[in-house]
Order: sequence, then C-alpha cells, then structure tokens
Amino acid sequence: MQWTNKLTRLLSIEYPVIQAPMLGVSTPEMAAAVSNQGGLGSLPVGGLSPLRTIELIQQTKQLTNKPFAVNLFAHPIPAIDLSAAEAMQAYLETLCLAHHIPYTKLAMNDLHFYSYKEQIDSLIQEKIPIVSFTFGMLDDESIQSLKAAGCLLNGTATSVKEAELLTEKDIDIISVQGIEAGGHRGTFLTDEPLPMIGLMSLLPLVADRVSKPLLAAGGIHNGQTIKAAVDLGASGVQVGTAFIASPESVAIPAYKERLQRSSETDSVLTRSFSGRWARGISNTFMREIEQSGLSIPEYPIQNSLTTALRAAAQRQNNVEFTNMWAGQSASTSEAKPTADIFRTLIAQTEALFLP
Ligand SMILES: Cc1cc2nc3c(=O)[nH]c(=O)nc-3n(C[C@H](O)[C@H](O)[C@H](O)COP(=O)(O)O)c2cc1C
Repeated sequence: MQWTNKLTRLLSIEYPVIQAPMLGVSTPEMAAAVSNQGGLGSLPVGGLSPLRTIELIQQTKQLTNKPFAVNLFAHPIPAIDLSAAEAMQAYLETLCLAHHIPYTKLAMNDLHFYSYKEQIDSLIQEKIPIVSFTFGMLDDESIQSLKAAGCLLNGTATSVKEAELLTEKDIDIISVQGIEAGGHRGTFLTDEPLPMIGLMSLLPLVADRVSKPLLAAGGIHNGQTIKAAVDLGASGVQVGTAFIASPESVAIPAYKERLQRSSETDSVLTRSFSGRWARGISNTFMREIEQSGLSIPEYPIQNSLTTALRAAAQRQNNVEFTNMWAGQSASTSEAKPTADIFRTLIAQTEALFLP
C-alpha cells in the first residue's frame, strides 16, 4: 500500500503514524523508537523548565537522527485564588493522612509556573523541526519566531471551531482529538461547554471545513481504526494509550496492569488531579475529590497541589492516588516494546489494504 501523502512529505517521515506526546509517561526512548521505525515520535515538555526541556531534547537526539516533535502546553498562566487553593490543600492533607500517603504542603508564594513562551528559544536553538501544542493557541510572536526558524506547527482541536481558529493562524497540522482520547482534553475555547465529540463525528466535520492535514487522535489502536481514520479524512493518526504499557513508558507497573484489564467504561473525565478535564481510569482519589464538593483550583494550580502526593503514591505503586490517564480503548494496550507496537500497527493496516 501507499503510505506517502501530504503529511509524510511535510514531516519527512515514512508512515503517518505519530506517537502522542504523553507527559509523565513518554520518554526520549519511546519517541526515538517510533521515529527510528519511520513514524514520528513526540517528546512532551509541557510546563517544564527551559533547562529540563533542553536536557530531554538532547537525550532524544542521542537516540535518533530522525525527526521528532516536541510538545508544549499553550495555556495562559492564571492568577491564584488563595482561599480555594488553601482549602484544597487542607483537604488533601487530611485525605493523605487517612490513606497513609505522605503529603508535602506547598507555600503558595513558592508556586511557579513556566510559560511555554520561556521554552521557544530553546526549541529554536535546538532546531526542532516540529512543535506540537495543546491546551491553547500559541501567541503570534511565538508562531512567527518558530515559523521563521523553519519549524512546522501542530495544534490540537476538540471542535470544528477550534480547528478553524488554528487554520486562521496558519498552523500547519491539526490534531483532531475525539472524546475517546486518553489524557487531557486539548480544549481551549473555555467560554463554551466542554466539547465531548466522538472522533467519528468530529473528524469528517473538521475535514469538510479545514484543508490542513489532520491527525486523528482518540481510540486508535489497530489497523482497522487507522483505516477508519483515513477514510474519515485524516492524513495520519496520533496514538497514545496503546504505548503506555510498553517498557519505554515510565508509567508505574500497577498502572500498566490496570490499563490492560480495564473495560471501555472504566475511564472517565475528571478535573480532580490537575484542574483541567482529562480522561483516566476512575480511582479512589477522583471519587474522593468529587464527593468533597470543594471547588477545584484551575490548571495548573491543582496540578501543582497534587504533584507530590501523586509522586508518593507512585513510589508505593499505588494506583488509587495517582492519575491513570487512558483512552476508551485502553484494554487493547499491550506490554510490548514500542517498536513492536508500532510495527504491528503498520502491518495490520497494510494487511487491510492488500487485495
Ligand atoms: C498518559 C497520557 C498523557 C498525555 N499527555 C499529553 C501531552 O503531554 N500533550 C498532548 O498534547 N497530549 C497528551 N495526551 C493526549 C494525546 O496527545 C492524544 O490525544 C491521546 O492519547 C489520543 O487518544 P488515545 O490515548 O486513545 O490514543 C496524553 C494522553 C495520555 C494517554
């Protein structure tokens, strides 16, 4: 079958299969494994310091000479509502005490959030060929600087309107994220209800209105789903959850196991861990926060308030108090090397196109 299309030509890759950036799960090893197989690996650096961003990029470059994307979080930095944040901290401290999880209290004055704008110079300096982003729209200055440096841009849309806005800004590639997708919603038009559109509906609607190459994201896990995405107007696919159980993923063992024995109804949307809507496998922490009735501080404040407790739970291999981001097809994830998962996706798709 013919894999070459406008997306593979634009990205200088062999197969239009992108490993989704997954902060907290993906590693330089995972991104390099996919790029080395002829797909596009993605290195997530959303919210990291410029120094850490450079370190991770350089580690990835040690492992591949092929192109890989670097992924940013393009959200505005909000002001902190001190009373809501302090009420949440007090609640988290009590909750952790009851469940034998160490909790490190944060001094609100010490909270620091890096803006993606602080990472742009590093990406240019490192000559990154593709920058993907989610949670927002890059500002005009960043778009101009990256484009002037020859960088391709890939934004995330969860509605037709978001895809149109990305197109108006001449973003080169659009990831169309359906409600099935694991992890955070890329939604950035916050004055509207959260778009909860399945990929089967969203993809053809976006393809009708937008001429940029589209990446289908959400539930893609085998040849059939890749073929379906292409039939619905995608030039390529963005695959996340299918790579979580691989050895290149830093997900804790209990998360990898839980993922594989999940059912399609186990993942739900929650704001409890980070303050932004995200899809993950339901657990005690999510239920407790939701039942507390407390107002959840917005992203990234809640994310910071829960960082230490999630890390502590991870050290205990305790999946009840850390996020298990996962899409609706999570049960199909396999504990195989990233390169094998990738090769299987390609072989299954090719088999469907054989006479
Ligand atoms: C564990 C996890 C972490 C994620 N982190 C990011 C991220 O850092 N940046 C991003 O753009 N998307 C992130 N996503 C969303 C993916 O880019 C993609 O939309 C999603 O994985 C596609 O659906 P699937 O998981 O069903 O394959 C994450 C998804 C998962 C499962």
